[in-house]
Amino acid sequence: MPKTNGDSCIQVNGSARLKGEVKISGNKNAALPILAAALLTEGDITLNNMPNLSDIRLMRTVLDELGAKTTFDNGVMTINARDVNKYETRFEMMNQMRASIYVIGPLLARFGVARAPLPGGCAIGSRPVDFHINALVRMGATLTFDHGSMDLRCAKLRGQRIYLDFPSVGATANIMMAAALAEGTTVIENAAEEPHIQDLAWFIKSIGGRVNGAGTKTISIEGVAKLHGASHTMIPDNIEAGTFMAAAAITRGNISVEGVQLKDLRPIIVKLMECGVSIKEHKNALKVVGRKKLDPLKITTLPHPGFPTDMQPQMMALLSTAEGVSIIKETVWENRFMHVAELARMGANVNVQGNTCVIIGTQQLNGSKVVATDLRAGAAMVLAGLAAEGPTTVYRADHIDRGYERFEEKLRGLGADVTRPE
Ligand code: UD1
Repeated sequence: MPKTNGDSCIQVNGSARLKGEVKISGNKNAALPILAAALLTEGDITLNNMPNLSDIRLMRTVLDELGAKTTFDNGVMTINARDVNKYETRFEMMNQMRASIYVIGPLLARFGVARAPLPGGCAIGSRPVDFHINALVRMGATLTFDHGSMDLRCAKLRGQRIYLDFPSVGATANIMMAAALAEGTTVIENAAEEPHIQDLAWFIKSIGGRVNGAGTKTISIEGVAKLHGASHTMIPDNIEAGTFMAAAAITRGNISVEGVQLKDLRPIIVKLMECGVSIKEHKNALKVVGRKKLDPLKITTLPHPGFPTDMQPQMMALLSTAEGVSIIKETVWENRFMHVAELARMGANVNVQGNTCVIIGTQQLNGSKVVATDLRAGAAMVLAGLAAEGPTTVYRADHIDRGYERFEEKLRGLGADVTRPE
């Protein structure tokens, strides 16, 4: 059973059809590397549309501990990294949030030194960082290991041609940041094409960097001697938008998802429509109408523009309520199926074989006590609770707070009965 002592939990009373409008927040996965990229300059940085999430607050603490000055008020983060005087991320930070690894590229490029504990494993897979480190070493850094920490040093990074074995989002971002202040041009081949990589490129350009090709498989970055301050606005969060679209579908509701970038949602829109959800595009909004009988789907998670792994658990909850047999193949994170056992508590019928799940649609999910095993799994459990008969309690709601701003409040605005007991 889940630990309940001191845990925050979310309570859901299911069966309301969602209706109304929801406004999407700034993109967490774009904001995290952009916060780290603020270390590249002495200038003043202002970041607008910054979501107030625990991961964002943690990244702010990482920057503060390095000596940066930050403020965060009403969706606006300001950062000045002129007085940075520490080059090491604490173990506790890395252990809580793997995105802390993003600071090594900019620290090394600007100060010639970066120290960080090796990130451990986590619930969704082993999550290595060898691509990040190998690239920085290729660019001229020397690497030593000391009691579980890595120490990277260089006089000056040099631009290189770097081929990634897999289009890793994290490695692409770290290399782009390091290359922005390196000598010469860096070319990343088989780069990640995610919307957050494109947003990072826009940010680097706004502070005077030279980046070309972001959003394609080949990104080139011409290093410059110095970068300056700027103001930048985060793109909307495509995964938050996709989660609300799935929430409308699972409750057979009728909602408008406002403030989205349609091109970033293409794979999610296509799959939801394929299972019978009606989606109408209107400027920066999507009208999503669920249907009583949903068709089963085959989904394979892939790097962008493929179907995002961050929507896999929510789609699994949805497909548990479709008529027929669905198949989900997870190719990005081999162990990202912790939510299967939790969905089973609610009566879902899902069989795991290796990296593939077979989901046999069920007539009705039953409210239960379940655990948010990670961020997106937590969202999936809330979605399942919205469609279930009877009350559901989702423990470890702190996982959900990492990536969804005012989640219960936004759901309540759509008519859901969702609360967080004190
Ligand atoms: C990945 C997702 C991202 C999602 C995030 C959290 C992809 C391509 N990336 O980003 O959309 O928001 O998880 O769920 O969908 N790898 C290595 N060595 C490395 C780095 C990565 O082998 O140094 C492998 C990983 O084991 C994994 C794959 O590459 O199989 C994807 O990793 P990466 O994109 O770097 O992960 P995140 O940046 O966390």
